[in-house]
Amino acid sequence: MISIKSEREIELMRYAGHINFLTHEELKKYIKPGITTETLDKIAHDFILKNDCIPSCLGYENYPKSICVSINDEVVHGIPSKRKLRNGDVVSIDFCVGYKGYHSDASRTYVVGNVRREVQDLVENTRLALYEGLRKVRAGAKIGDISHAIEDFAHKKGLSVVEDLVGHGVGSTIHEEPDVPNFGEEGKGYTLKEGMTIAIEPMLNLGSKNVCLIDKDDWTIVTEDESLSAHFEHTVLVTKDGYEILTGE
Ligand code: MF3
Ligand code: CO
Repeated sequence: MISIKSEREIELMRYAGHINFLTHEELKKYIKPGITTETLDKIAHDFILKNDCIPSCLGYENYPKSICVSINDEVVHGIPSKRKLRNGDVVSIDFCVGYKGYHSDASRTYVVGNVRREVQDLVENTRLALYEGLRKVRAGAKIGDISHAIEDFAHKKGLSVVEDLVGHGVGSTIHEEPDVPNFGEEGKGYTLKEGMTIAIEPMLNLGSKNVCLIDKDDWTIVTEDESLSAHFEHTVLVTKDGYEILTGE
């Protein structure tokens, strides 16, 4: 069942989304060589609590931290640790914020210091792929319209699309129906309706699209060929004529 949110629920998600945005803005200041990913986790954790919200990744299916920090060939769900960011790293930061039982989910990818042109392009094109998908969102459009727009853009830029992980509905839980794949056919899938809230999250790789789970922590997903990966995500509300980004400004 795909839920349609009431005006009250949307208001709660707007706040959860706004605090998600502000937390990302806060973290951005600390993305520098030498900082540990655990420190980033603590900064986010404290900031979210200070704003009357909860870090909803913490404890979700026993996830041990408040944010996910995924570096280089790590695609998503990297667990914060004593690992330090280094010059040249590609780092994605992804987390959920909850307010009075409603959630927001957003991710951004940064480069640390200097990287080669190809890497800069990977990150920028993954961000643009998210916006290509977003532009398709409005009541009456199909999930496949979003999926296809992202896939088409990624392939034009020579990037591969991770297929094993997908975007999703968001609301009173982090992951709701429907799935929002980053590949697919226009005109296919569920019809979007006013009041649905979905997270769109392209994960694009420089090399192979294949990913696998690291056995040792049972969370971190990496590219099979160890190529670099980037990830951007927004939670959006479907409106009559388009969309409202809940995790933006
Ligand atoms: N944006 C991530 C996702 O949709 C956040 C999940 S929370 C975690 O999978 F606990 F699984 F990390
Ligand atoms: Co998500």
